Amino acid sequence: MSALPPKRESFGSKFGVIAAAAGSAIGLGNIWRFPYVAGENGGAAFIILYLAFVIAIGIPVMLSEFTIGRRAQQNVYGSFRKLAPNRPWYLIGIMGVVAAFMILAFYTAVAGWTLEYIYQAITGGFNGKTPGELNNMFDSFTSGTSRPLIWFFVFMGLTAFIIMAGVKNGIEKSTKILMPLLLIILVILIVRSVTLPGAAKGISFLFKPDFSKIGASTVLEALGQAFFSLSIGMGTLVTYGSYIQKSDDLGSTAFSVAMTDTFIAIMAGLAIFPAVFAFDITPGYGEGLVFVTLPNIFQQMPGGTIFSIMFFLLLGVAALTSTISVLEVIVAFFVEELKMKRKAATYLATFSVSLLGIMCVLSTSSMADFKIFGFTVFGLMNFTTANILLPLGGLLIVIFVAWFFGRDKAKDELTNGGKLKALYLPVFMFIIKYVAPLAIAFVFLQGLGLINLK
Ligand code: PFF
Repeated sequence: MSALPPKRESFGSKFGVIAAAAGSAIGLGNIWRFPYVAGENGGAAFIILYLAFVIAIGIPVMLSEFTIGRRAQQNVYGSFRKLAPNRPWYLIGIMGVVAAFMILAFYTAVAGWTLEYIYQAITGGFNGKTPGELNNMFDSFTSGTSRPLIWFFVFMGLTAFIIMAGVKNGIEKSTKILMPLLLIILVILIVRSVTLPGAAKGISFLFKPDFSKIGASTVLEALGQAFFSLSIGMGTLVTYGSYIQKSDDLGSTAFSVAMTDTFIAIMAGLAIFPAVFAFDITPGYGEGLVFVTLPNIFQQMPGGTIFSIMFFLLLGVAALTSTISVLEVIVAFFVEELKMKRKAATYLATFSVSLLGIMCVLSTSSMADFKIFGFTVFGLMNFTTANILLPLGGLLIVIFVAWFFGRDKAKDELTNGGKLKALYLPVFMFIIKYVAPLAIAFVFLQGLGLINLK
């Protein structure tokens, strides 16, 4: 007697889909990574490039992922297997699962830092500290071993706990409340940040482009950041797409998610750069930027303690709704391909990601001198996923939809079998056929120094 496979889970409502997908997209990438990468790459000119990439490439890739996932109703590997039997397209799926391992490892390390900062905020650890002392506080925390490791495991545990319970109730419900709350707190921080003395320099850094700062590597960083921030190029949104109901409009969902994500990134920039300049921190400070700048702002505000608790709490939550989505990629793969139970799959995924994660955590301390291609393990995961694996995945995904899956099936999926208009279809097809593949390939080769057209 062969039992029917259990019915696949799906999101309950369109708002739930947007909350979950935006929950995946909005995270440390917006609030932690975007400001320091923009800072290291000259600010406004970088941001313009970033926006161009989100609109011209990001949204079409996101839509392609949703299309594949909802059509196939499978994990990322299974989706390509199903839509292209006996063809090598499933390699995109394998690449996606590998990227998920790598992202989860270093991302959870940073997510752990947010827990330390929640703890510090609650115990008044920032109070009375000078900018220099806050800087030292970050350095001495990350150069330790036990605390960052403990927080890493706590965060992995939280992620695993939610995934085990099933995504629907956890993510859908919590993101609907927590995302708007994050927005409110960001607005308050922006108001405080832009009214600090000396803030004007930060605002012009953010909005006044200096194109002389743009080099080949900047373009690749902007593309990489767009992919990372939107959670695209590795099948996270193929996986989530497979949980979207057949009656939802994929086009407007992708558009809303991408716009919300971009809006939050710019807002985070507005909260952070004015303060960076006001406190004389270098915008290219790197991974510690947010962890040093924000406590400085809180120091200057009435009620700073309460806001710092709220901020780091929400940063942690934003990170959690992202780590969940990455772990789901691996767990869905284990469940459907290795026929594992969800619980066992989650244990296995969590355990194996942790092995790599420990090395990422120790990259700022005992393994700081262990370098591969000049990167620490943390740096290597951060750089290769965002700047190589995700754009490469995105390139192959659009080529797959445009040239293999084809216009007719894409149209069928995007119009829900003819029920919706999807007037954007010709533009979408044109972009995924020509614009996106050429642009990604070009930026990629140029950024890696394999061609030089300048
Ligand atoms: N988009 C998330 C962020 O900006 O924090 C990070 C991320 C999540 C990247 C999921 C990739 C992914 F599949």
